[in-house]
Amino acid sequence: MQRCTLVLLLCLIATMCPPPGAQASDNPSASQLAKTPPMGWNSWNKFGCDVSEGLIREMTEAVVSSGMQAAGYQFVNIDDCWQVDRDSQGNIIADPARFPSGMKALADYVHSKGLKLGLYTDAGTLTCAKRPGSLNHEVQDAKTYAGWGIDYVKIDWCAAEGLDPEVQYGKFRDALAQSGRPIMFSICNWGVKAPWRWGPHTGNLWRTTGDISDSYASMSLIGFGQNGLEKFAGPGHWNDPDMLEIGNGHMNRDEDRTHMALWALLAAPLLAGNDLRTMTPETKELLTNPEVLAIDQDAKGVQAHRVWQEGPLEIWARPLADGSHAVGLFNSSESPIKMTLDFKTIGAGASAKLRDLLDHKNLGTLQNSYTVEMPKHGVVLVKVSS
Ligand code: GLA
Repeated sequence: MQRCTLVLLLCLIATMCPPPGAQASDNPSASQLAKTPPMGWNSWNKFGCDVSEGLIREMTEAVVSSGMQAAGYQFVNIDDCWQVDRDSQGNIIADPARFPSGMKALADYVHSKGLKLGLYTDAGTLTCAKRPGSLNHEVQDAKTYAGWGIDYVKIDWCAAEGLDPEVQYGKFRDALAQSGRPIMFSICNWGVKAPWRWGPHTGNLWRTTGDISDSYASMSLIGFGQNGLEKFAGPGHWNDPDMLEIGNGHMNRDEDRTHMALWALLAAPLLAGNDLRTMTPETKELLTNPEVLAIDQDAKGVQAHRVWQEGPLEIWARPLADGSHAVGLFNSSESPIKMTLDFKTIGAGASAKLRDLLDHKNLGTLQNSYTVEMPKHGVVLVKVSS
């Protein structure tokens, strides 16, 4: 009897205490959101400030008609420049010329297609394009977004001199939690003050670097620079190496494939940044490749790290929920070359089954290693199972 009381007491204490790693200040909705990295589209990389409700409606339709929605892309995100001013009560005003129907009507439209709408603001006084920021309007803006039916907010770090990002983004976390609507929280402070340290108890994703641009040099510098950050990511909270440049025209096919495979290995948020209305069949096929997306979205949520390197040749791997490994072989050199994956590098047994995920090909059961000819700036992404 006494033993039973003691067990009951211990059970009660256990339910009252947060699990190890959780913090009292965690965003209560965060654990419900982003169980896997968010997927969607964002206006900035292709359209910059040229955003309007017409563009967003057309892109919403394209997410559906291209098959991206069926592949798992959910968010349609408006980046900078949708906002022009505040009214006399301090409420943020969407550009009436570019968004004449208002944000609520646009959110209703996006929701009617089974998708979600995201917006952008800034933690400082001005956005990076010099529109009104949210400093000292955190609670008010979060309420406005919730009232409009917004599902995702990206918060930038321009005009924020002298502010502490951990404190400022903490204010937003609390404001979003108070808003009464589950809103995905994307921290965008370019890695200032190591956001991976405080990001997990503040938002759902945090940018780890400066802005990506549409070139192999920029994409590879950012992507291969993520090593060491893997321990901070997991279900509900992700490192964000920035949005995709796939299909924007300045990377060739091998480079776009490297971008997609690397971001999937990194468990990165996948925000397409191209014009979905006019993309080529190759771009669409790459963005919707189900075997590659399954790596990004794997339920185990473990971000890859570098397991082998020889100058510009590197191998990255991540364990998957089904006990297998996703492995990327990358050739950043300027010429084609042979690369070998030794199964010992990833702790696999002498005999392993390999499947090429980008090209949907079984490579058979191999002994000890796998050797492949790699194009310049190319990738081979394989699933290795016993
Ligand atoms: C910053 C961000 C970008 C984009 C622009 C908009 O540079 O890092 O992702 O949002 O601002 O002005």
